[in-house]
Amino acid sequence: MFPTHVIATRPFSDQTPGTSGLRKRTSVFQQPHYLENFVQALLDEAALPAGSTLVVGGDGRFFNREATHTIVRMAAANGITHVVVGRGGLLSTPAASHLIRRGAAGGIILSASHNPGGPEGDFGVKYNAANGGPAPESFTNAVAARAAALASYRITDLPPYTLDLIGRQQVGHLTLDVVDPVSAYADLMASLFDFDAIRALFANGFRLRMDSMHAITGPYAVEILERRLGAASGTVINAVPLPDFGGGHPDPNLTYAQELVEEMFGPDALDFGAASDGDGDRNMILGRRFFVTPSDSLAVLAANATLVPGYRNGLVGVARSMPTSAAVDAVASTLGIPCFETPTGWKFFGNLLDAGRITLCGEESFGTGSNHVREKDGLWAVLFWLNVIAVRRQSVEEIVRAHWGRFGRNYYTRYDYDAVPTEVANGVMAHLRAQLDALPQRALGGRTVRAADDFVYTDPIDGSTSTRQGIRILFEDGARIVYRLSGTGTEGATIRLYIERRETAPERLDMETADALRDLVATALSVAEIVERTGRTAPTVMT
Ligand code: G1P
Ligand code: ZN
Repeated sequence: MFPTHVIATRPFSDQTPGTSGLRKRTSVFQQPHYLENFVQALLDEAALPAGSTLVVGGDGRFFNREATHTIVRMAAANGITHVVVGRGGLLSTPAASHLIRRGAAGGIILSASHNPGGPEGDFGVKYNAANGGPAPESFTNAVAARAAALASYRITDLPPYTLDLIGRQQVGHLTLDVVDPVSAYADLMASLFDFDAIRALFANGFRLRMDSMHAITGPYAVEILERRLGAASGTVINAVPLPDFGGGHPDPNLTYAQELVEEMFGPDALDFGAASDGDGDRNMILGRRFFVTPSDSLAVLAANATLVPGYRNGLVGVARSMPTSAAVDAVASTLGIPCFETPTGWKFFGNLLDAGRITLCGEESFGTGSNHVREKDGLWAVLFWLNVIAVRRQSVEEIVRAHWGRFGRNYYTRYDYDAVPTEVANGVMAHLRAQLDALPQRALGGRTVRAADDFVYTDPIDGSTSTRQGIRILFEDGARIVYRLSGTGTEGATIRLYIERRETAPERLDMETADALRDLVATALSVAEIVERTGRTAPTVMT
C-alpha cells in the first residue's frame, strides 16, 4: 500500500453541476483543493461497490492530463481497484459512454464540451453512471450538497505509472488499464453502419470534409473515415487535438466552424461537410452550399433509419428536447411511433433509452444520438448520413428537400445572447413569466396565442418532475416561441430564444429562413423586451 493522505479542504459552495456536469473557468478548477473537493464529493456519492471499474478520460483540453492524474490517485485512495483510462487521458464523450457501458460502474469525463479551452478558457468534470449516461439530477444535487460540506478528501501517492502506453499496469493495489481511445468506438460504428457501402461511396469519388476543430474527434475521424472507410487522406482537417483547440471555439455551427463553412459554401464545395465539438458529441451536417438544421437532421435520420443496418428493424420511438423543432414529430406520426418531448439536456433521454422506449433522439443544439450509447454522438451522426447517402444515392440537399416535400418543413432559428448580466437575464424571464396567464387568445403580430407556459416535464419512467424548463408561447397555427436560460454558460447568463413555424404548402418550402421567420422574430423580441432590457440589438450567435 502507498501512503494515502487525508487532506483538509474548505467547502466550495459553487460546485453545483449544470446540465452537463460542473463547468467553470480553468483557473477556478486550478485553485488549491477545488478539483479534489468535487471529485471526492462525486466518489462519495457514487459509492462504487468494491471491485468495480471506473472509466476516466477527457477531450484533451488544457488541464486534462493533470486532472486525470489527480482522479486516478483519488480513485486509488478511495478504494477503487480498477481504472480504465484512454491513452494520454483522452476519450471522446461518446467513446467514454461506450467504454462505461462495457462493464464499468461509472466514469468521469473531463470536458467543457464546446466551450473554448486553455488557461483562459473553460474546464469541466462530469460523472456518468453505469448505463453510460450523465448522472441524474438527484445525483448531481446530492454531489453539490456534499461538495459544499466536505471537510477533507483522500489522495494516494502512487508509484510511477504512465498514461501514454497502452496496456495494463499494476500500480500499488490499483489495476490501471490504458486503452486506445479509438478502437472500441470504431468497432461499435462498424457494427451499426454499412461500412462497405460507405467505402464504395468514397471509392466512386464522393468528397467529404470533416472539421475536427483541433478537438477530440480528430483521431477518431482519421481512423474511421480515412483509414477504415477509405476517404481521401486530408479529408479530416484540424485533426490534431490541441489543449486550446488552436485558439478556436470548438462548437460546430455556422459561426465557429468557419474554415469548413467557407469551403462548403465556396466555389469548390465538396459533397458533404461535417464538424464536431470539443468532446465529440455534437455534429453539424452540411451539403454543398446547404446547411442542415440539427432538428431537420434528426427528422431525416429517423425517416431513413431502416436503410442503416443497426436500425434495420425500425425505431421503437423517438425523442427531442422541447426547444428542438417539431420536424421529427411529423416523422413519428407518419411512422406511427411515439415521440417524447423532454427538457433540454441529454440526461433526460437516458431513462427513455434505458427503458427501450426510444431508439433515436436529438436536440436543436447540434446533438443527435441513439440507443448505442447514452450520450449524443457527433461522428455517429456523420456516419449515419453517409450511410443514408450511400443507399439513396442522392445529395444532402436532395434528401432534405425530398423530406420537406413528404413531411413538411419546420422553419427554425435560435438566437443566443451570451454574457448577459445575471439580474438582467432573470429580469427577462420574470417579465415573461408574469405575462403567461394573459397571453392565451391574444393576437401577437397577427397570430393568436393558443397557450403559454413554463415547460414542466414528468419523466414517464421514474415519475420525477422538472419544472421551469423554458417559457413557451404556442400559436394556433403551430408556430412557437421559446425562451430559456442556458445551464452551461460560465460567464453571466445566456438567454436563448427559439423560433419555429411549420409550413406544408409545396410552393412555400423554399423560403430563406430569415424571411420565413421575420414576423415571429420581431414578436419574440418585443414580447420579452430583449433589446430594451439587455441593450443588445443583435444576438451573439444566430443558428
Ligand atoms: C446546451 C444546449 C443543450 C445541450 C447542452 C450540452 O445547453 O442547449 O441542448 O444538451 O448544451 O451540450 P444550455 O446551454 O442551453 O443549457
Ligand atoms: Zn460536447
